[in-house]
Amino acid sequence: MQRVRLHEIAKRFGTTVVLEKIDLDIEPGEFLVLLGPSGCGKSTLLNIVAGLEEPSGGTLHFGDRDVTALEPDQRDIAMVFQSYALYPTMSVARNIGFGLKMRGLDRAGIEAKVADVARLLQIEHLLDRKPSQLSGGQQQRVAIGRALVREPQVFLLDEPLSNLDAKLRADMRVELKRLHERSRRTTLYVTHDQVEAMTLASRIVVMNKGRVQQCDRPELVYAKPANRFVAGFVGAPTMNFLEGELAAAGDLPGLRLGEAILPLPRLPAATARHMGRPLVLGLRPEHLALAPAPTDRAGTCRGQVLMTEPTGPDTYVLIRLAGREVTARMPPGVALSPGQMVDLRLDGAAASLFDSGDGQRLD
Ligand SMILES: Nc1ncnc2c1ncn2[C@@H]1O[C@H](COP(=O)(O)OP(=O)(O)OP(=O)(O)O)[C@@H](O)[C@H]1O
Ligand SMILES: [Mg+2]
Repeated sequence: MQRVRLHEIAKRFGTTVVLEKIDLDIEPGEFLVLLGPSGCGKSTLLNIVAGLEEPSGGTLHFGDRDVTALEPDQRDIAMVFQSYALYPTMSVARNIGFGLKMRGLDRAGIEAKVADVARLLQIEHLLDRKPSQLSGGQQQRVAIGRALVREPQVFLLDEPLSNLDAKLRADMRVELKRLHERSRRTTLYVTHDQVEAMTLASRIVVMNKGRVQQCDRPELVYAKPANRFVAGFVGAPTMNFLEGELAAAGDLPGLRLGEAILPLPRLPAATARHMGRPLVLGLRPEHLALAPAPTDRAGTCRGQVLMTEPTGPDTYVLIRLAGREVTARMPPGVALSPGQMVDLRLDGAAASLFDSGDGQRLD
């Protein structure tokens, strides 16, 4: 298990700045996930850690060792790419063992290690096949096996599941998680899939435009996003954003939206200091609920159903509220139809507040 430290890592391609002073401290044995939209610099950062790309500035340490200037093969890393890059003419066993052979390990040693990894990944029965005789998921396992067999100090994966269909991706996600729980290798994993990030990560680094937006445990990234970008990027359906100002709604705190004031029961008392300041309220769809009984309207607001979207476990309900459109997550059997008026309770305790200018979280 190895600690990995990035200090002010920067990258420019010509005049294009791709990474701006990235500081990250990856704990020994941690599973750190880089999450962000296409083009935000995830692969570039991973390639810098791998030594495939040279940083324009900053330093990289593995433990106490400064590896900034070391070649990839001197770093004790293994990498899995999105394209599995298996050798098409070699059997699965040879694909997995090839790196060990290059390092001069003897045949018996290679066979033993390949067998171990194959057992771990449950591909023992495939060892004699060629990559073309494997499914996508099996090929992916071979690619992971090839990286694992080297017993690297640091494991780097760049969107390893993105070529798989949804079902296989979910299965492989579970396998990767089990594998990490057993091996506890320090892992840096790139994805733009937030479900993958939420389920696999010990911490998520959300990136945008070459900058770290937030680095936190998954549940915190979800519940307390550091800014509007993170709030909007993580979570599906996306968080509702309502631009207004805090005001009193009778005895309760509320959000003024033009003429209307929406009550926000359970809004933390400390937010009172933001009264009157223009801000953006963020509320996840699961934090808008139907009022428990039609007669119990205290602390509720009226909206009109525009559309319902049953997904199986949930029904998403699009609602017009004070002239805005919001999405609520409701139980599967909810009986609502377009045009119907509903009384909603907004859970102030779960709300996020953001500065209406720079979008940073207000606490
Ligand atoms: N060799 C290069 N020369 C010039 N620009 C590059 C080069 N490599 C990457 N870039 C640019 O750097 C930015 C970050 O690229 P990178 O591949 O790191 O993004 P990413 O977050 O991995 O995206 P994706 O999710 O699409 O894989 C992009 O705007 C890309 O066009
Ligand atoms: Mg990439």
